[in-house]
Amino acid sequence: MTSVGVGLIGCGTVGTGVVELLATNAETIARKSGLRLELRHICEKNRAVWDRVKASPGTFTDDLDVILRDPGTTIAIELVGGTTVAGEIVRKCLAAGKDVVTANKALLAVRGREIFSAARAAGRCVSFEASVGGGIPVIAALREGLIANRIDAVFGIVNGTCNYILSEMAARDRAYADVLADAQRLGYAEPDPSFDVKGTDTAHKLAILAAIAFQADIDLGSIAVEGIEAIDRMDLRAARELGYVCKLLAIGEREDDGLSLRVHPAFIPQAHPLAGVSGPFNAISIYGNAVGHTLFYGRGAGPKPTASAILADVIAVATGNARRVFPRLDTLLKGRGL
Ligand code: HSE
Repeated sequence: MTSVGVGLIGCGTVGTGVVELLATNAETIARKSGLRLELRHICEKNRAVWDRVKASPGTFTDDLDVILRDPGTTIAIELVGGTTVAGEIVRKCLAAGKDVVTANKALLAVRGREIFSAARAAGRCVSFEASVGGGIPVIAALREGLIANRIDAVFGIVNGTCNYILSEMAARDRAYADVLADAQRLGYAEPDPSFDVKGTDTAHKLAILAAIAFQADIDLGSIAVEGIEAIDRMDLRAARELGYVCKLLAIGEREDDGLSLRVHPAFIPQAHPLAGVSGPFNAISIYGNAVGHTLFYGRGAGPKPTASAILADVIAVATGNARRVFPRLDTLLKGRGL
C-alpha cells in the first residue's frame, strides 16, 4: 500500500480533529483509497498542545523547517488561520514543493489570487474544501458535479456559530452572550468570534463560493455585510409569532447587470427548507440553469466535520485527483485571474 507523508501546521481545535480522525479512520481510509496517510510532523508553537494531543513520539515540532525540509512530507495541511503568518507558511510550503490543503477561508478570500499564482508557479496545488461548509462537499459539487450548469444563484447558511446562536436564542429564549460562549466552547467559533457575529466569516465563504460559482473577480469590499450582533430575543420572538425564522444568510445572485453579493440576517418563512437548519448545521442552495435548485446540508463547523473535508482533500491530493482538478479550477476562476 502506498504511504503518503503529511505535515500538519497548527494543532488547535480543528487540527486536533484531524489528528484524531487520521487515527480513528486509518483503516477505513486505507481500504477506500489504497493509501496509508502518515502524519509525520505536527508544527505547533504551543507546547501545552504537545502533551494534550496523542501523536507518535517525535511528531511534534515548533520549527516549520522540519516539514519544509522533509522530502517524505509531500502534503502540508495549513490550519494556522488568519491571513498574514498563514499566508507566509503556505507560500513557503508551496516553494518547498508541498501541495497544500487548507481550511483558511480568510486567507483565500483576502489573498487567494496570490496564493493560487504561487501554487501555479511552484507546480503544486491548493485544496480548500474545508474552507466553506465544514464537512459538506460543496466546493466539489460546484467544481465538478454542477460543472455543466450556468450557476445563477448560491445562497444559504454558512456560519455555524451564528446559526447556533440564533437557533439557541430562538428555541430556548437564551441570551446572546451565553450562547456565544457555548459556541466557543464547542469549537465552532473563530479565535476572534467577532469574525463570526459581524458576518465577516460568512462574507469570506461567500467570496469563495461566488468566485467558483460565477467565475467572477470577487472583491471582498463589494459584499454588503451585516452580522447578528443587533439581533435580540424580541426580534426572534417577533419572527416566530409572524411565522418566520431568523437566519444569517449569504446570498450571491447573477443579475442582468452583474452580481449581487450580500450577507445579512433575514426572516425566512417557517416552511422554507433553510428555516429548519439549526445549531451548527449549514445549508447551501445552488441554482443551476439545468439542475434547478439543489441543497447541500450538513455540519458546517466543529473539529470532526471540518477534519472530514480536510482529509478528503488530502486523499484527493495523494491520489493525484487534486492535481488534475487544480488547473480546471484555475479555468473556473479565470475571471478572477487566480
Ligand atoms: N467559525 C466558523 C463557523 C467555523 O462558525 O462556521 C467554520 O468555518
